[in-house]
Amino acid sequence: MPNYDDLLAQATAVLEQNDRGDYTQPAAGLYPHQWLWDSCFTAIGLAHLDVHRAQKELVSLLRGQWHNGMLPNIIFRSEPQYWAERNQWRSWLSPHAPEHVATTGITQPPLLAEAVVRVGDKLDKTEKRIWYRQMYPALLKYHQWLYNERDPHGEGLILLIHPWECGMDNTPPWIYQLHQHQLAWWVSAVDKLRLSSIVNKVRRDTKSVPAGERFSTIEALALLDAQLRLRRKAYDTDRILDHALFSIEDVAFNSMVIRANSQLNHIAHFLHQEIPADLKVSMKKTEKALEDLWDPHLSRYYCRDFITHNLIKVPSMATLLPLYAGSVSAERAAELVKLLENPTIFGTPYPVPSVPADAKEFHPKLYWQGPSWVNMNWLIIDGLGRYGYADHAAALRETTLEMVAKGGCHEYFDPLDGTPAGGRDFSWTAALVIDLIQYKA
Ligand code: GLC
Repeated sequence: MPNYDDLLAQATAVLEQNDRGDYTQPAAGLYPHQWLWDSCFTAIGLAHLDVHRAQKELVSLLRGQWHNGMLPNIIFRSEPQYWAERNQWRSWLSPHAPEHVATTGITQPPLLAEAVVRVGDKLDKTEKRIWYRQMYPALLKYHQWLYNERDPHGEGLILLIHPWECGMDNTPPWIYQLHQHQLAWWVSAVDKLRLSSIVNKVRRDTKSVPAGERFSTIEALALLDAQLRLRRKAYDTDRILDHALFSIEDVAFNSMVIRANSQLNHIAHFLHQEIPADLKVSMKKTEKALEDLWDPHLSRYYCRDFITHNLIKVPSMATLLPLYAGSVSAERAAELVKLLENPTIFGTPYPVPSVPADAKEFHPKLYWQGPSWVNMNWLIIDGLGRYGYADHAAALRETTLEMVAKGGCHEYFDPLDGTPAGGRDFSWTAALVIDLIQYKA
């Protein structure tokens, strides 16, 4: 069993090192800005150390909220050296963008309600009321945006328009969709002319992390091209959906929506507020619609193409996230637990791999194509606990902590031998380790 005092000290030091005053950068150099779900996970850990600092982390996310309610996945730093990144997105092209900060034009998994509640749990009743009152209007607006903009047919499932929105950037189902659509001529030209080594020179991520642990250059350029298409439409969802390159109902994202909805309900209830009736209806629909993503023959959940309504039957850990949603039946949860237990699927020595170990898409060190990520383990542990799988949750907690104690607070880990990979001194790894040390199922 790892020495939890040492691990706690190490994790605390990482958060201090990445602290930028009002928010925490995910990793110095590699990720210098404020990211949406990163700050949520970070606040969950910070709440154990300094609850007021944790509150600040979440309040600072609201600086980036768009007038239509969207919370962007990145709020950019304002120093001159980050001009190129701000300019790549040009959020100012949209009338909905905030005036005083530059952001992206897309979102990320909605973990804010969860984080607000976790932080609230550390406050006394009066402080909690003040805290919830401060966050509730922005949260409500965000959830309304999710449905108004991203569920245009009122089906209950939120659609995503870029792989970066799902948080698992190069996860196989999304990469599969990317290859199904024609690559832009300039991306194909880079490929054909073998210019990727030149392009590699301008990538920030491969400066601090070995290229074999990241996206391929072609994938990175295809994602950039997909982003530029969104910019050309000034991030206007209707215009984007007119000729969408990607529109996917992601099973992991929608599972997090379901949990976020129930946490939002909890906050509203505490404040004696009524959730608007149309939002309530949508929330219920999501729980039902998630079941449409279940494939009864393969016994897994899959992402779905919004346009064709076909399931994208490419394996990834997203199938497990309904455990975190908490809305699926005990029988379905039991099927997912079986996948987790199986050593050839998700029960690797250091679970949970981001892609099942028996899939041809599995690469143990390649970013979201195999490695084990602490944030995803945290979500699954939480879900297992709520479904009554206390022993499974405890076992996964322990291997997760052991993996980080052995390798350090890295971004991700090889699920076969626990070797650390990706960026070092990574904030959400540190923060969630702090939370897991305290966790009891
Ligand atoms: C990568 C991850 C994303 C994360 C970001 C900052 O892009 O895929 O989920 O939010 O890094 O850590």
